[in-house]
Amino acid sequence: MLRCAVFASGGGSNFQALIDRREAGDLKVDLALLVGNNSTAHAFERARKHGIPSVHIAPSRFPDETTYANHLLSALREHAIDIIALAGYMKKIPHRIIAAYPNRILNIHPALLPSFGGPGLYGERVHQAVLDSGAKVSGITVHFVDDEYDHGPIICQQTVPVLDEDDAHSLAARVLAVEHGTYWKALAAIAAGRLIVKGRRVFGHV
Ligand code: GRF
Repeated sequence: MLRCAVFASGGGSNFQALIDRREAGDLKVDLALLVGNNSTAHAFERARKHGIPSVHIAPSRFPDETTYANHLLSALREHAIDIIALAGYMKKIPHRIIAAYPNRILNIHPALLPSFGGPGLYGERVHQAVLDSGAKVSGITVHFVDDEYDHGPIICQQTVPVLDEDDAHSLAARVLAVEHGTYWKALAAIAAGRLIVKGRRVFGHV
């Protein structure tokens, strides 16, 4: 079974959704490690509760990116990690890690990329940008991670309606529920070897 590390910086509700699918037997991937940059993140509590090993690695504690990346890579190797799922991870993934895990790092973004993504577009800012644009649909995107924020090949997307009465908070909640129902399926499709990546296109069904 593939061994997956989840990277989270915050509450970790997407991490929890993966744990729930794993425990229900729907997701046949071993959630083998939680990596977090923020020691007070609730995600650590979730890992502890479900017996998942965790490591706290704060990039700011390292003198430079190379030392940080080496440390991160040795933690991943120590836990024999095959695949990485970012779940609300707020730090940039060093190139060294991306090179070590080609098309093996996934991210979930709470909007329809390539719109409403990139540096500075995270959390409620994403949903405010969607509302300000006047778009009638938003959604979620699961994609592979490359060296640019919110940019790698798209694995799957789901749309979510924008309602007249929405504010960023209510739209975020509707989108988050769809994230929880979708992320595990992308991970399962990779684990089952159903996806093929050719350039920017990902073929195969999630
Ligand atoms: C989610 O909206 C996800 O799309 C984004 O960060 C948020 C994380 O939420 N990348 P949570 O910590 O999983 O609740």
